[in-house]
Amino acid sequence: MKKLIIIFSLLTQTTFAQINIIPEPQSIQKLTGEFTLTQNTKINIPNSNPEVRNIAQYFAEIIAAPTGYKLSISENVKFHTNKSINFILDEKMLASPDKYTLEITPKYIDIKAHSPKGMFYAVQTLLQLLPKQIENNSLQKVVWKIPAVTITDAPRYGWRGVMLDVSRHYFGKEYVKKFIDQIARLKFNTFHWHLADDQGWRIEIKSYPKLTSVGAWRVPRTGKWWDREPPKEDEERSYGGFYTQDDIREIVKYAQDRYITILPEIDIPGHSLAILAAYPEFSCGGGKFEVNGGWKFYKDVENTLCPSNEQVYVFLDKVFGEVAQLFPNPYIHMGGDEAYKGFWEKSPECQALMKREGLKTLEELQSYFVKRVEKIIQSKGKRMIGWDEILEGGLAPDATVMSWRGMKGGIAAAKQNHQVVMSPWEYVYLDLYQGDPNVEPQTYGMARLKKTYSFEPTPKGIDDKLILGGQGNLWTESVPTTRHLEYMLYPRTLALSEVLWSPKEKKNWNNFTQKLESYFPRMDEAKLNYARSMYDAIVRTEKDDKGKLKVELSTEVEDLDIYYTFDGTNPDDFSTKYQGKMLSPPNSATTLKVITYQNNKPKGKQITLTMKDLQDRIGRYKMIADMLDE
Ligand code: ACM
Repeated sequence: MKKLIIIFSLLTQTTFAQINIIPEPQSIQKLTGEFTLTQNTKINIPNSNPEVRNIAQYFAEIIAAPTGYKLSISENVKFHTNKSINFILDEKMLASPDKYTLEITPKYIDIKAHSPKGMFYAVQTLLQLLPKQIENNSLQKVVWKIPAVTITDAPRYGWRGVMLDVSRHYFGKEYVKKFIDQIARLKFNTFHWHLADDQGWRIEIKSYPKLTSVGAWRVPRTGKWWDREPPKEDEERSYGGFYTQDDIREIVKYAQDRYITILPEIDIPGHSLAILAAYPEFSCGGGKFEVNGGWKFYKDVENTLCPSNEQVYVFLDKVFGEVAQLFPNPYIHMGGDEAYKGFWEKSPECQALMKREGLKTLEELQSYFVKRVEKIIQSKGKRMIGWDEILEGGLAPDATVMSWRGMKGGIAAAKQNHQVVMSPWEYVYLDLYQGDPNVEPQTYGMARLKKTYSFEPTPKGIDDKLILGGQGNLWTESVPTTRHLEYMLYPRTLALSEVLWSPKEKKNWNNFTQKLESYFPRMDEAKLNYARSMYDAIVRTEKDDKGKLKVELSTEVEDLDIYYTFDGTNPDDFSTKYQGKMLSPPNSATTLKVITYQNNKPKGKQITLTMKDLQDRIGRYKMIADMLDE
């Protein structure tokens, strides 16, 4: 019996030393005691409202599997009469649709917001206050205690986005819903859907059926992107897929129910090989085109729409017309990035157009194209957004700019009084390495978690009303599976959620990494994949004045000890501890092996680098940064 009592008290004893919410709310006030969720807990909606009922139902459904409780939802009842969770639309609250308060006492939980959207965010916070097993999908034996707190909260930015590229690899409808579910849990509100690129067209367009019957398919390939074998004539184009218009409507509704708006992107005039594979007549040069599956092409293959061909604008009018019908988002993204203009230069029709319109450069020709696209998009009742290349040759009158080549495009656009979404690659490209390339899946460039966390979307001296917010982008050339997608998304989207939601003064890296210690076990319960690269050592090399190799070791996270060897043995906490002074590898050394420990336990992955690896990485990531920042 005594044993049973001990087990019981272990199960029920909970210490709420720290309230761990990601993204960090505006204010948290700890109270004493806790609310215990049981099968008798009632959900009350004092003033009935169908949207609030949907949110209450969403909450009840999420907790149903792990708790085994089917909580009843009552409308138009008095609240605070029993142990209840009360969803209260509060007309008196400041009319901010995102704002909420969450009051948890031992007797009741009050969720108050001026609008249902605020309640949805309160539910996300409430879920994070429940024991981690709430994330599990099967029945858990847990006492469901929630610490007593009062939380007041509202977001910093109105545009909190994540982009998913479904062209380079196709991810089906069910995964897209899961992705939406996950970003909703972090209070993101925008899903930017990159639906068309050289590697596949993914949205059914009834006026142009070959976009999907041809443009959505390519020959299957694996292995390193850009090193793959080009297709043979008789190979089946069997890899790919697309979303039907019914799929899109279903996903849009699913996202709306989670207060997420979907921004569709059709990337033109560059990145258009899949269009040309289906309709070669929209190129300048004509010929036969193949949807690309990861084989190298650059200036030899035309992948741009031809701006001097009137049929291209007829095509775009139909495409954007259908896109506008499907997506309620006020914007349509037209891409605009990385358009190679060599085929325009060679085209007599483009030259004639330039002469006729008085366009002096190819950039001005691109700007002519973009401005016409803006008119088409506006004619469908939408506003245009594009990557920062749309600044070149002159910005279209009402364009919003998504700044990806650093912040400078965004700053230039804001200075011209245009709205901006900041999405600088070096902070928020979620396809980049998040740890040492030696122990990470192969990709390019570097965006460690701490770098993402340090992202500040509003530059100094810029009117903050013009900075709508920010966005993380997950390109998928090197990301073929959903498991890998999760690995790239987490924990960087956790950091990004805090950048975009939390008050600037609440951002605190050490606090954030502490919170991850309790957030990761929640993700384990949810069976979500995530990277633990933040615990690995950072190995940086340089040459000293005499040309001798020097090695610096560091970590992103505080409280880690670094141990290393140069003798080929695997390091542990009996090996040499790094003391902060740069290392000079001994002459006979062949490898450096490094590992991190925390509280005498191994924490990060072991990194093994040969002397050649160390030599090769001198200045390497800096070079990539310079290249992209030109
Ligand atoms: C981009 O990364 N080309 C927008």
